[in-house]
Amino acid sequence: MAPQDRLNQVSSHLTFPQGLFHNQTVIVTGAGQGIGAEAARLFANEGAKVVVADIDQVKADAVVKAINDISPNRAIAVVGDVMDATYIDTLVKKSAEFGGGKIHVIVNNAGFTWDGVIHKITDKQWDTMLSVHNTAPFRLIRAAAPYFRVKDKEPRVIINISSTSGTHGNAGQANYSLAKAGLVGLTKTIAKEWGPQFGVRANTVAFGYITTRLTAAKEDGATFVAADGTKVALGIPGRKPSSSAQGSAVTAHNDIPLRRPGSPEEAARAIVGVASPWFSYVNGETIEVTGGRNI
Ligand SMILES: NC(=O)c1ccc[n+]([C@@H]2O[C@H](COP(=O)([O-])OP(=O)(O)OC[C@H]3O[C@@H](n4cnc5c(N)ncnc54)[C@H](O)[C@@H]3O)[C@@H](O)[C@H]2O)c1
Repeated sequence: MAPQDRLNQVSSHLTFPQGLFHNQTVIVTGAGQGIGAEAARLFANEGAKVVVADIDQVKADAVVKAINDISPNRAIAVVGDVMDATYIDTLVKKSAEFGGGKIHVIVNNAGFTWDGVIHKITDKQWDTMLSVHNTAPFRLIRAAAPYFRVKDKEPRVIINISSTSGTHGNAGQANYSLAKAGLVGLTKTIAKEWGPQFGVRANTVAFGYITTRLTAAKEDGATFVAADGTKVALGIPGRKPSSSAQGSAVTAHNDIPLRRPGSPEEAARAIVGVASPWFSYVNGETIEVTGGRNI
């Protein structure tokens, strides 16, 4: 289904005729493409005002345009590197302004991999993974605390995006695995600190294999360039291009009971679902979205 068709959909349930996130402000980091972009569109489709946070200006603007072409003034882009502390402050400030003084949902999704076997991982590789997957989400949550530690009877939800590399480990990803595991502890701590007084829910969503730039063939040549100029090659070495969730050979995915990777939209639906009021009593959990892998 085309993004615009999705935006035209209206929440089907009468309980939320204006959408599950009507009048709520949602920040999605890494929303310029992949899972984050799909999440931004789905949140907007459900009535949210969406802040598209990404380092890539062109991609962020395209996501915002696709949303606003259907629902004017529904989305803004705030462009920068989540590893830059000053950007985090700007992101929170602009999001609160856009949201009329309120922020309801944060999805800490921005990220990438910088793989290596344990005996070859450099300090820079190690520190970068902690910076993007742990320090950045922490700083964003800390900076947004005044908008979450409130008692206005409106929902507040934090979703941290993890990986089965974090929950199960993965050879060649010690740095990424440790960082993604760290999010589980951060999430549970938010649930325990901000749940009792303020009713904030925090959950981790851990993906298996989702077809995005991150899991495409390394030979495709995609790179991530950080604000400080650090350049990282993305993708999985030796992976045959199999961008279609349906099209690859069954035997290629025999570790996945559904026998296929997930699409970015399927991944995003899990994020939006967990953030939604339907999940109002699910808190502090790690929800694995894997097509059944690792069960
Ligand atoms: N694709 C998978 O199979 C998979 C599996 C497990 C977890 N994840 C996680 O899902 C999240 C989204 O990944 P994806 O697969 O959609 O990848 P992607 O590469 O398609 O998209 C990531 C987006 O994040 C942005 N981004 C990355 N680092 C940033 C930074 N420092 N500051 C601002 N923006 C930044 C990129 O510009 C890009 O738009 C990541 O946290 C990733 O680790 C993905």
